[in-house]
Amino acid sequence: MSRKIEILVLPGDGIGPEVMSQALRVLHKISDMADLSLVIYEDLIHGQAWDAYGTFCRDETVHQAKNVDAVLVGAVGGEKWGNLAPGGTPEEKDGLMRLRKELDVFAGIRPARSYSHLNEKTPYRPELLDEVDLIVLREMCGGVMFASPRGIESDSKGPKRGFDTAAYDVDEVKRHARFGFELARKRRGHLTSVDKANVMESGAFWREIVSEVSFEYPDVHFQNMYADNCSYQLAINPKQFDVILADNLFGDILSDQAAALSGSLGMLASASLTDQSNSPGIYEPVHGTAPDIAGKNIANPIGMILSLALMFEFGFSMQEISKKLHLAVEEVTRTGPLTPDLGGLGTTNEVTEAILRELERNF
Ligand code: IPM
Ligand code: MG
Repeated sequence: MSRKIEILVLPGDGIGPEVMSQALRVLHKISDMADLSLVIYEDLIHGQAWDAYGTFCRDETVHQAKNVDAVLVGAVGGEKWGNLAPGGTPEEKDGLMRLRKELDVFAGIRPARSYSHLNEKTPYRPELLDEVDLIVLREMCGGVMFASPRGIESDSKGPKRGFDTAAYDVDEVKRHARFGFELARKRRGHLTSVDKANVMESGAFWREIVSEVSFEYPDVHFQNMYADNCSYQLAINPKQFDVILADNLFGDILSDQAAALSGSLGMLASASLTDQSNSPGIYEPVHGTAPDIAGKNIANPIGMILSLALMFEFGFSMQEISKKLHLAVEEVTRTGPLTPDLGGLGTTNEVTEAILRELERNF
């Protein structure tokens, strides 16, 4: 009997809808070839939701997201919707932030790797990139992006002071650290935790708790690193990393930096997961809405398509399908076509079609 899989699709803003429609072609192809019984629901998020419903994420959307097997997101954001909820919580200001929080998907898996055929598109010397394959594991639901108090204080002359609070509870750090050690165990067994323990209380706390958890995983090689040094080390010797355990802010920054290893931010996929086995994850490319190229059919669809690979791997334990997707993408990085972010002339459509052909050939 074919396996039934229910997915909520949220294309979002900017290039979100165009990369999503291509990813759905790939998903339908896989579904046919692997005999899956797909049920796809589609809804609006962030800017699109605001324009239609006056809210960035409806309760109905949250409800549905909690009741499917996986949630796929394209991209959210845009200047037009930038300042519509001043003083609001992150959940009120951003539809995706609300969804991450509501689904409690604290573990943000952001893999970055090198592709030998794209090395020359990167700012790195090729010998630094040989077999780079790392994951930035970003905490997604807490820290300075969510903790309170936060706000902008004003007086009669205008805004005077803006502030956020960098804070984590012990349980938030513990569950994230455990997720990281478990992940490292399934990979090369190496975990680097980043913080600013030298100057921040929340950093010293993070380091203390993660170090404590590390004793539960004597088989994992563990080290602490200051976040600024990690950024530098990523630039000069990225091969040293396996899993980088980071809080919400450092993980946001380091995952963008790590994208340079692949040649383009458009290559990077992500999975945001919980530690509850029956709770859905959110799968989305790391790139943003890229309004400057939206609607031109030149956005790189690979980040979105590799998000499907993460969904099959982490959401459905269908490693074989995930591998086939990775192989198809890898082959297309060799043969082309490539989109302009990678120096090519290919369109979003053409890149997807090449990936579809590869999938068909290898299934
Ligand atoms: C990301 C993005 C988001 C974030 C934005 C769009 C809210 O930068 O997924 O990395 O900061 O989490
Ligand atoms: Mg980001």
